[in-house]
Amino acid sequence: MGSLPYFSVLLVLFLCSSYFFVDGQNLPFKAVNLGNWLVTEGWMKPSLFDGIINKDLLDGTQVQLKSTKLRKFLVAENGGGDNVLANRDSASGWETFRLWRVNDSSFNFRVFGKQFIGLDASKKLVATSNSPTNRETFHIIRNRGDPFKIRIQASNGLFLQAQSETVLSADYQGSTNWEDSDPSVFRMESVKTMLRGEYQITNGYGPDKAPRVLQDHWNTYIAEEDFRFMSENGLTAVRIPVGWWIAHDPNPPKPFVGGSLAALDNAFTWAQNHGMKVIVDLHAVQGSQNGNDHSGTRDGYTEWGDSYITDTVAVIDFLAERYGNKPSLGGIELMNEPKLGPNLDSLKKYYQKAYDAVRKHSEMAHVIMSKPLDHGSKEFLSFVGSFNGVVIDVHYYNVFGNQFKNMNVQQNIDYIYNQRASDL
Ligand SMILES: *[C@@H]1O[C@H](CO)[C@@H](O)[C@H](O)[C@H]1NC(C)=O
Repeated sequence: MGSLPYFSVLLVLFLCSSYFFVDGQNLPFKAVNLGNWLVTEGWMKPSLFDGIINKDLLDGTQVQLKSTKLRKFLVAENGGGDNVLANRDSASGWETFRLWRVNDSSFNFRVFGKQFIGLDASKKLVATSNSPTNRETFHIIRNRGDPFKIRIQASNGLFLQAQSETVLSADYQGSTNWEDSDPSVFRMESVKTMLRGEYQITNGYGPDKAPRVLQDHWNTYIAEEDFRFMSENGLTAVRIPVGWWIAHDPNPPKPFVGGSLAALDNAFTWAQNHGMKVIVDLHAVQGSQNGNDHSGTRDGYTEWGDSYITDTVAVIDFLAERYGNKPSLGGIELMNEPKLGPNLDSLKKYYQKAYDAVRKHSEMAHVIMSKPLDHGSKEFLSFVGSFNGVVIDVHYYNVFGNQFKNMNVQQNIDYIYNQRASDL
C-alpha cells in the first residue's frame, strides 16, 4: 500500500437490495469514507508516526537477523517449536521474525509458527512459547552510526551471542566496539514496517504519550466545518470506520486509548446539524479479519473466528443501542472487508447474530454486510437475501494494476460504467 498514487480512488459501492426500502431515508446516499480518523491508516498521514522512538520498529515489523561474525541468518528451526540457530545463508519465512513492541527499546520476536523466541533453562535460544513473558523479552541496542547493527540483551541481563552455527545463547558479558568479529553483534536486515494502524500508533507512543497524540488527531483531522463543506457540495452521508475498542471507551484495553466515542458522538451531532447521515462501520475487530492496518491488527495475522463472535456482536450491540434512535443514523456496517479463508461459516453466524443485535435497537437502520474479499458474490447474495433492510458492500479498487496507471479521471469513471456495471 506504500505507493498509492495520490489521486486514486477506492470505489466503495453500497448496493441496496431492491426488495426493501426504508421509509424516511433519502436513498441513495452519496457518501464519502472518513478513513484514518478513528481508526489509523498510516499511509494517509505518515507524519502522525513521526514522534515515535524507533518508529521503524513498530508492532508487526518483520526483521531478519544475521550474525556478523558467522555471516549467517538466525532461523527458528522447523518454523517454530524448536531451537533457534544461526546457520542459514539466505532468509525467508523461518528466518523472518515479527516484532511485538514492549516499549521503545524492548521487543518480543514472533516466529513463522507464531511462537516467541526465548531462553531455555541453559540460556539457549528456543522458539517454543506461545505467549511472551520476561524470558521472551529482549532489549535491542542500536549502534549510533549504523542503526541496523545491533546487540540484543536478554532478560538475564546478558547479551545474545552466536557462539557457533548451532549454539546461540544469552551469556555474553561486557561491552563491544562493534567489530564484525564480535559474536554479540548482529545485523538487522530487510526491516519491513508493514503495518501502521491503530495498534502500531498507540503502542508505539506508549501509554504516556498516545492519549494526547490521538486526542489531538481526533480533534483536528475532522471537524464540523468538514460536514458543512460536504453537505454544501452535495454529499448526503459519511461512512465512519471505528474499532472494537470504542465499545470500551473511556478505558479500552491497552494499548488502545479512550476518546474515539466522544468523537463519534460529535460526528452524529454535526451530521444532524447539516442534514447528513452517518454509516458507522466496524473496521477493526478483535483478532483481525484481514491482517491489514485498518483491522487493528498487532502483527498481521488474521485470527478472528468463532471464539470472537460473542465479543464482536457485543460491539455492534453497543453501537446500535447508542445510536439506534438517532435520526442521523444511516446504517451500521458489521465488519469491513473480511478475508477469512475457509472461515465463511463463522462470518455467516456472526452476520446473523450482529444483524439481530442491530434490529433489537432499530427497525430502520440499514445493516451493511461487506462481501468477503476472497469469496465470490453469488453464494453471498443468496445468504443476504434472507434478511430485511440489508445492504451489500462491495469494494472495487480502481487503482491497483497497470490498466489504471495512465487513466485520467474521466477514463477512470468510464471504467466503472463500462467494466464494473455489469458485475453490479
Ligand atoms: C522496557 O521493558 C523492559 C522489559 O520489560 C524493562 O526492563 C525496561 O525497564 C523498560 N524500559 C522502559 C524505558 O520502560
